[in-house]
Amino acid sequence: MPEARFVGAGSAETVLDVPNGQTLKQAAVDNLVPGIIGDCGGYATCGTCHVVVDEPFRARLPTPSEDEEIMLEGLLTPVTAGSRLACQITMADDLDGITVHVPESQG
Ligand code: FES
Repeated sequence: MPEARFVGAGSAETVLDVPNGQTLKQAAVDNLVPGIIGDCGGYATCGTCHVVVDEPFRARLPTPSEDEEIMLEGLLTPVTAGSRLACQITMADDLDGITVHVPESQG
C-alpha cells in the first residue's frame, strides 16, 4: 500500500499507509492528522484540507480543477506553488512516498 507523509507544525510527522483510490484528506481525517479538517467532506469548497506538496510529486498530480483553483485563491493561509487541496489528491502507486506539508496556521 502506498505511503504518504504529512509534516505539520514543528516538523511533526505522520506517516500513513493510504489505500489506492482514497484521498489524502480522508486518510488524514481518519487518522487525526493535525490541521486537516475537511469540513466540506471533500468537495473542494472549504479549504480546510490545504497542503503543500513536495517535489517531485507535484508534477505527478493531475492539474487542479477550476473549483480547486478558485478555492486555493480564496484561502487565508499563504498559497505556494505546491499548494493543493488534499481532498483532490487520490492515492495511487506512483504517489508512494508523497510528502505534504500542513501550513502552520492550520495546525
Ligand atoms: S475537504 Fe473541503 S476543500 Fe478539501
